[in-house]
Amino acid sequence: MALPADKDWWRQAAIYQIYPRSFKDSNGDGLGDVNGITSKAKYLKSLSLDAVWLSPFYPSPLADGGYDVADYRNVDPRLGTLEDFDAMVKALHKENIRVFVDIVPNHSSDQHAWFQEALASKPGSKARERYIFRDGKGKDGELPPNDWVSHFAPSAWTRSTNPDGTPGQWYLHLFAPEQPDFNWDNREVQLDFIKTLRFWSDRGVDGFRIDVAHALKKDMSKLNKSYPKIDSFGITLKGNDILFDRDEVHEIYREWRKVFNEYNPPRVAVAEAYIQAPRRVLYARPDELGQAFNFDLLGAPYDARTYKRIVSENIELAKTEGSSSTWVLNNHDQVRQPTKLGLPKETKLNEWLLSDGKDAVLDKKLGLARAKAAALFTMALPGCVYIYQGEELGLFEVEDLKHQDLQDPIWSRNIVTKRESAFFKGYGKNVKGVAVVHVDKGRDGCRVPLPWTITGKSFGFGSGGSHLPQPRWFKDFAVEAQSGQKDSTLEIYRQALASRKKYQSTEDLMWEKTGDPQVLHFKRANGWHCIMNFDGDAYSLPKGEILVSSGKLSGNKVPKNTCVWVKTIA
Ligand code: GLC
Repeated sequence: MALPADKDWWRQAAIYQIYPRSFKDSNGDGLGDVNGITSKAKYLKSLSLDAVWLSPFYPSPLADGGYDVADYRNVDPRLGTLEDFDAMVKALHKENIRVFVDIVPNHSSDQHAWFQEALASKPGSKARERYIFRDGKGKDGELPPNDWVSHFAPSAWTRSTNPDGTPGQWYLHLFAPEQPDFNWDNREVQLDFIKTLRFWSDRGVDGFRIDVAHALKKDMSKLNKSYPKIDSFGITLKGNDILFDRDEVHEIYREWRKVFNEYNPPRVAVAEAYIQAPRRVLYARPDELGQAFNFDLLGAPYDARTYKRIVSENIELAKTEGSSSTWVLNNHDQVRQPTKLGLPKETKLNEWLLSDGKDAVLDKKLGLARAKAAALFTMALPGCVYIYQGEELGLFEVEDLKHQDLQDPIWSRNIVTKRESAFFKGYGKNVKGVAVVHVDKGRDGCRVPLPWTITGKSFGFGSGGSHLPQPRWFKDFAVEAQSGQKDSTLEIYRQALASRKKYQSTEDLMWEKTGDPQVLHFKRANGWHCIMNFDGDAYSLPKGEILVSSGKLSGNKVPKNTCVWVKTIA
């Protein structure tokens, strides 16, 4: 069933990210699946969402949680079938919830048929031209073509093996070796992705999240240039870096836009481009993807001035490019906010995780209060809000996952020798008796399967176990534990999302003077006020109806670490 043809529905939507393997398991194999999502359509409806975005559910060897795609136009048999997918879209559309899928165009899995064909083919062949193969350096090509590094350290090059077993050319991968980068100068690659976009659009998919959208085009004429450190956020505002944010990449998205516009309503898209705001918004232009994730609040310090600056800047930038801003506090790559905001300011998150949460004391009450307040604050802003599964339950990061349970390549690949580890003060001190030391715990702690019920082997996630172990404290955060409990995080989210839908109007806000640098107060059209007290004195509310509050009020005053929405007569 198609949804009404409102072409601007996404501009101020509430979109919920589902990490399919960890959402709901319908067949007891410990992995969340497509039918699991379908079975929770009513739950998603109870959150007043406009859409869900599904992280990859495609066939994948899971070298990077599914962001290593072996077949872009299919469903991983462990997660379901294409028929299950169609049934899910139908069930969600019935509840007026649209569906985004994740497109991973920078790289495929090394198990993708094209990469296997490339390995079996000769250097310079058509099959190799779909990826980025180069000869190695040194006498026998035994050294990588250059010093470029990958996000999942160390080298961005891996040597391939020829069909006869001898060492062959090297191929480029900005992520894990199991994720070879495509050659986006190749028309066949370009056309194949257009085929994928049409394939899912024809099945009723409403939108696409574009993975590492800023990395597709590389300047391979600069092979001799050193690139020893990878940090796309650190590149200049001029763009055109060797590996990131090159002007040519926009041609790809202009072509995609034409495809999106073949549909009614036009398909929408959001760019994941981890670069600075003024460059990031270029991906959101109306003749390109239309929207880009704004990650500026993800790692922002909990501070009113910083929040205000980020909000004003992003609203302005989005407007200049003809888009609306987005607001993101959590996703599957980030430490969950209640943990971030409950740790002492000076805590180094990575070190804390490597210590299994022993390095510093997490103030759970404070962290959750701040996370709820920050969530309400962003939900009141003009633009589109993205919510990550489990955020509505107030879940903390699972900081003490055992090493043997970790799945993220960031954990397994970021290793140094014991000797080198002297430079990484404090890292890896729990790792005993091994020749190497892990220097990054990775992202599994925010990907642990959701707790649905208070009891049961995996708290209602499924009838079997759970592919990442859930801690005991998850039961207190279960949907069952919170549903109908007036002040629970879940009910606050439900109330906020429902009010937001009701009062959302023009894409503007007006800041009100508060006289306290740690209190922000803004007004939307319709007399909808949002007041957030970060760390200031209790602040008097304007007269009106209280729509929702992230925490307890003292009389008509908002205490610190609290956000409140008030409706006044407009
Ligand atoms: C994006 C995804 C992340 C993945 C990476 C490589 O940043 O969000 O999870 O590891 O791309 O595809």
